[in-house]
Amino acid sequence: MASSTPLHLIIKSGGSAAIPEWTALFAEFAPHVVVHDWNRPPTDRSLVDFAMVWEPETGALARYPQLKAIFSSAAGVDHILADSELPPALPIVRMVTGESQQRMAEFCLMATLMLQKNMPRALAQHRQQQWIEFNPPHVASELRVGILGLGTLGAAAAQMLRAVGYPVQGWSQTRKQIDGVTSYCGQEELAAFLRSSQVLICLLPDTPATRGILNAQLFAQLPAGAQLVNAGRGTQLHSADLVAALDSGQLGGALLDVTEPEPLPADSPLWTHPRVILTPHIAASASRRAKARQVALSMAQWQAGQTLDNCFDRVRGY
Ligand code: NDP
Ligand code: OXD
Repeated sequence: MASSTPLHLIIKSGGSAAIPEWTALFAEFAPHVVVHDWNRPPTDRSLVDFAMVWEPETGALARYPQLKAIFSSAAGVDHILADSELPPALPIVRMVTGESQQRMAEFCLMATLMLQKNMPRALAQHRQQQWIEFNPPHVASELRVGILGLGTLGAAAAQMLRAVGYPVQGWSQTRKQIDGVTSYCGQEELAAFLRSSQVLICLLPDTPATRGILNAQLFAQLPAGAQLVNAGRGTQLHSADLVAALDSGQLGGALLDVTEPEPLPADSPLWTHPRVILTPHIAASASRRAKARQVALSMAQWQAGQTLDNCFDRVRGY
């Protein structure tokens, strides 16, 4: 199909208010794409070729009979898989951009530094107007960072942390070759990986195998006083186990960018725990510009009859 043939894209990302910006961005990157607002679908839904979505309502995607692919507005696709009426065979493309890799790497570096420098304690003291000096024990070269998940985001974070001087190791399903980063893989190597991870960063996707992985049994295998960063998914963390591990001193502190649910209920102890820092799922969402450029590239791949990059793999589950 010639690239000038109109393609219709319906968008649910940022609400109706974001549609003028999306329209301008696609006019720049793919002028043959006609943008539709999810809240004002065309009368003839069979016109729509592609959807870019965040948290589509159950059954909504199934109402577009000619969809060729679904673009996730996020790297994770759990918010799409939650739809029990999702058309079963459609490709789902994850949002993977250089910008989100950079943002996640920066976030993981920031989180590691904040925990290394005991910022939870400094912030708690600040709130109580206390001026009590303390001296964080380690410099970067003495603090081994372990990353659960060495995919597009984990690998970028590993490289940035390595460049700053942290010893870095990662855990994934398959063995990785990343300069200066020790690779562990599979269940059989998890214990050895955890034993030496003084800062543990979770960048795993939400799957049946990763749900609840951050629990008491895992925390017990970390060095005493280890620090936790979760920027994967809230479903991976057992909150009560985290609070118990913080209170016993098994964990020194935690920085959580994702929670279950989001936002947390008002009575969650994580809101007020003195050794927890919460950030509102801000680690690595790419700009609309980067997302539109990426979706335009994927549509061009589809038009050229090529295999789409960054497709969710239904067999692996991520
Ligand atoms: P990828 O699919 O590229 O990487 C996933 C990694 O996890 C891979 O290294 C994979 O191993 C590993 N993995 C998956 N399941 C297992 C398992 N059971 N045991 C061991 N390793 C496993 O994903 P991304 O890096 O792009 O994104 C990861 C997640 O980060 C997203 O799914 C999302 O949940 C989260 N995220 C959070 C954001 C935020 O703002 N907080 C922003 C963006 C993403 P292998 O490489 O061997 O296949
Ligand atoms: C995510 C994202 O998957 O923001 O959380 O991309």
